[in-house]
Amino acid sequence: MNWWKNLKGKVKLNEPLSKHTSFRIGAEAEFFIEPSNIDDLKRLISYIKKQKAKLLIIGSGSNILAPDNKMDAVVARLNSAHFRKISSNRNFINVGSGFPLGRLVRFALNNKLSGLEFLMGLPGTVGGALVMNAGAGKKSIGDLVAQITVMDYNGRIKIIRKKDINFGYRVSGLGKYIILGARLKLKHKEKSLIRQELKKYIDYRRSTQELGLPSAGCIFKNPKNKSAGKLIDLCALKGKHVGGAYVSLKHANFILNKANASAKDVLKLKALIEKKVKSKFGITLKPEIKIWQ
Ligand code: EPU
Repeated sequence: MNWWKNLKGKVKLNEPLSKHTSFRIGAEAEFFIEPSNIDDLKRLISYIKKQKAKLLIIGSGSNILAPDNKMDAVVARLNSAHFRKISSNRNFINVGSGFPLGRLVRFALNNKLSGLEFLMGLPGTVGGALVMNAGAGKKSIGDLVAQITVMDYNGRIKIIRKKDINFGYRVSGLGKYIILGARLKLKHKEKSLIRQELKKYIDYRRSTQELGLPSAGCIFKNPKNKSAGKLIDLCALKGKHVGGAYVSLKHANFILNKANASAKDVLKLKALIEKKVKSKFGITLKPEIKIWQ
C-alpha cells in the first residue's frame, strides 16, 4: 500500500535536497512532503511511528548541510497555507512556523511593530529560527516569544510559554517538537524609526557578509566572548578551499558553495578550520549548521 496516498498535501518521491537548501547541496530524500494542515501532519506522524521511519523537518533549508547520498528519510516542510498564517493583535503577532522571516519583518513594519528588525536579511522560516534561536549580535528571536504552539511526535498539540523554553545562544531545546507557530510580543513604534533600524542591519550585513553565493550563513557558533569569524580569519584561512567549497573572503565564518561543492567538500573544509583554530587558539569550534546524515 502506498501510505502517502492518504495524505492531502504535496508528496514528492526522491526529491533532491539541493533544491531546498541554501547551500544548494544534497542528494535526494526518499520522501519530501508538505502536509496540508494539522490533520495531515498527524497522519504523517502516525505513519512515521508505525514504520519507525526517520522524519526531518525543513524550513527554508538555510542552516542545513544535506548529505551527498540519498537519504532514507521523510523530509517534511510546513509550507502550505495552513502553516503560513499571520495576524496581529495589539502589540502581538501570531505567526505560523512556515512563514518566511523576511516577510515577518515586513509584516511587523507595516503594523508599526518593532523588535524584529535584527532579523532583516536573515534567510529562514519562523520555525527554523525558533528551533535555533536565530539572531544577530546579542539579539535572538527567543527574546520576543510570548508562547509557542508545537506538536509532539505523538501528534499531541501543546502550548509552551516563554518561561518554560530554554532559549540560549543558538539553542532552544525545541528540537524535540514540531513547531506549529508562535506568538511574538513586540513594541509599537513609528514606521520611519523601524525603517532606520532595518537599514542599519541590512547595510551591516551587506558590508560584512557574502550574500550572493550559496551558503548556510555562519558555519560555527561564536565561542564565549569570541568571534568564530575573527578566529578563522586570524588563521589566514580566507579563500582556502576544498573542491568547490571556499572560506569566504568577506567573512571567514561563511563557507561558500562556489563550484558544485559536495557535502564532503564542506565537511573536509570545516574539519580543517576546526583543526587550525584548535591548534592556534586551543578553542574547539562548535557547528551552528545542522549536519544531516
Ligand atoms: N571578523 C573578522 N574577520 C571575519 C569576520 C569577522 O575579523 O572574517 C570580526 C569583525 O570585524 C567583528 C567580529 O569579528 O569585529 C564579529 O563579526 P560580525 O560582526 O560579522 O559578527 P559575527 O559574530 O561573526 C554574528 C552572527 C551572524 C550575524 C552577525 C551580524 C553568529 C555565529 N553569527 O556574526 O549570524 O549575521 O552577527 O550581526 O552568531 C548566522 O547565524 O548564520 C549568522 C551569520
